[in-house]
Amino acid sequence: MCGIIGYIGKNNDLKMGLEALKRLEYRGYDSAGAAFYDARRKDIRIYKAVGRVSELEKKMAKGAFASRNIGEVGPFIFHTRWATHGAPSIKNAHPHGDCTRSFYVAHNGIIENHNELRRWLNTQAKNKKHKFYSDTDTEVLAHLIEHFYRAESPGGDYAAGEGDLTAAVKKALSKVVGAYGIVVISKYHPNELIAARLGSPLLLGVGDGEYFVASDSAGVLAHTKQVVYLKDGEVAKLSPNGFTIEDSQGEKEPELEELEWNLEDAQRGGYPHFMLKEIMEQPASIRDTIRGRTTKLREVGKLGGLEDKRERLSSIKKIHIVACGTAYYAGLVGKYMLEEYAGIPCEVDIGSEFRYRKPILDKDTAFLAISQSGETADTLASLREAKQKGILTLGIINVVGSAIARETDAGVYNHAGPEIGVASTKAFTSQMTALAFLTVFLGRQRAMSHTMGERIIGEIEFLPKYISKTLKQEKEIKRIAGKHKNARDFIFLGRKYNYPVALEGALKLKEISYIHAEGYAGGELKHGPIAMIDKSFPTVAIMPKDSVYEKMVSNIEEIKARGGPVIAVTTQNNRAISSLTKDVIYIPKTLEMLTPIIAAVPLQLFAYYMGVSKGYNVDKPRNLAKSVTVE
Ligand code: M6R
Repeated sequence: MCGIIGYIGKNNDLKMGLEALKRLEYRGYDSAGAAFYDARRKDIRIYKAVGRVSELEKKMAKGAFASRNIGEVGPFIFHTRWATHGAPSIKNAHPHGDCTRSFYVAHNGIIENHNELRRWLNTQAKNKKHKFYSDTDTEVLAHLIEHFYRAESPGGDYAAGEGDLTAAVKKALSKVVGAYGIVVISKYHPNELIAARLGSPLLLGVGDGEYFVASDSAGVLAHTKQVVYLKDGEVAKLSPNGFTIEDSQGEKEPELEELEWNLEDAQRGGYPHFMLKEIMEQPASIRDTIRGRTTKLREVGKLGGLEDKRERLSSIKKIHIVACGTAYYAGLVGKYMLEEYAGIPCEVDIGSEFRYRKPILDKDTAFLAISQSGETADTLASLREAKQKGILTLGIINVVGSAIARETDAGVYNHAGPEIGVASTKAFTSQMTALAFLTVFLGRQRAMSHTMGERIIGEIEFLPKYISKTLKQEKEIKRIAGKHKNARDFIFLGRKYNYPVALEGALKLKEISYIHAEGYAGGELKHGPIAMIDKSFPTVAIMPKDSVYEKMVSNIEEIKARGGPVIAVTTQNNRAISSLTKDVIYIPKTLEMLTPIIAAVPLQLFAYYMGVSKGYNVDKPRNLAKSVTVE
């Protein structure tokens, strides 16, 4: 939610900053802005545009890039916004400045007490009151920095800029209730850039004589793989010669880490959209999830990240999974797996519900967060709630070094590579694969036989091949999408393991094509939704030949009897399906527990082609942002 780039160093190239911002555009795209120090004017210059980063680029091409009036460029900040407070507009676009236009802030997060702070600031003002120009919560931060900078300046010599910018930022942040990842520059400090985080992700990219601040690694990959993940409560002061990090205890030794991902992973690689690229690379991403986790004997899924907790895991009696959106649906699949094969009772909660109810968590319960980004606010808050109760916390996370990955006691990384498309695809299949491994790991500690463990792992190893085979039906899926593209509503039906896949199929379609879609458990059809069925209301039935296949057939017969069109996803060689519908997508036969990992794939392609056929930008669906770092 919102992408931030900050830069200070030997190569103050605004175009490079803009390119970096483009790589973060999936985090928000309703307006964009830039602030940079112009050494000739000894001032900060601002560019803002409504809409995509390309709109900002057009403005900068006419102004900043073309202008001969710009002297040497000093530190700069860029921001791409996902609106929380205030409509997408120029006045609300970041970076935001104070009354004197001396301090500029780019912010990701929410300042919950911004109204109170606006009032407080004006009670402090002796002569001139602060004038606010935007509807954003962020703007108050710039005014607070102005206030404290003025108050802290030696002898009150404000204009000379001899004050302490870091101290002013820290004082300002001490008044804030909410979440932030911020970058600050000031015309009084052309050799400084300040970054701070609480709740919203931010990392420092450490180059050779140059330093970056970014919301996530995609923003720095083109320049450096050396990063420092800022932790909550930390404030970094960057200069062209280096950086320091401090928290409430004082200065800290930075923990430098090396990024695993390559720039190519974060590029479209010839595909028209990231979403299609990420759907197509699932055989590879699943292979990466599997890599190094199968023993020669295929006896037990090897999960290095859980080894330290092996003993404690052997005695847990319940697992409480918490996640949001697509990751939540993966959690639902995990519940079926863990209960059936590991014999562990499992509860699955949406993050935003878990954090506000009173879950019963005793010492024998393990908490499991599932999150692609590892930054989702509600999942993170739930994790913290669980930690407070002192129980074992685990994570299935894709982004290495993310807040949830760092704060859980142990976990499993997806290794699915960066997921840039706003609609989650490869992360979903990789989350379910990780859950299958976890099931074997925990199952073998309990009653699961060696043969069964071997069988599951053996089938997991075939998943990349099965998915490749499924992807070969792309043309047929595109045809089916074209045939139904004018339908206004869809219902997705599945049972047991494929009930969550129905929920996910409906979510994907809504996100990408803005078509109303609902996911239901097949058995629920007669309890209400069947009332909607008529010849204009298609059903997507996820019905592999598994233990509930016949039940699904009965559901589909009921739909046919009411004239409803049906699109079926079923197991290859299921010829009988032709009596129910001609729109069929086949998936290879595998263990019932693994079918969701394959069945999800054609539904992703179906949503993709529906969105594309309507002319939408499927990588940047309206109103959405990749990671939801605010409540
Ligand atoms: O990063 P996370 O996995 O925690 O994100 C959870 C959801 O926000 C995410 O899955 C969202 O529902 C996607 N837009 C789904 O495509």
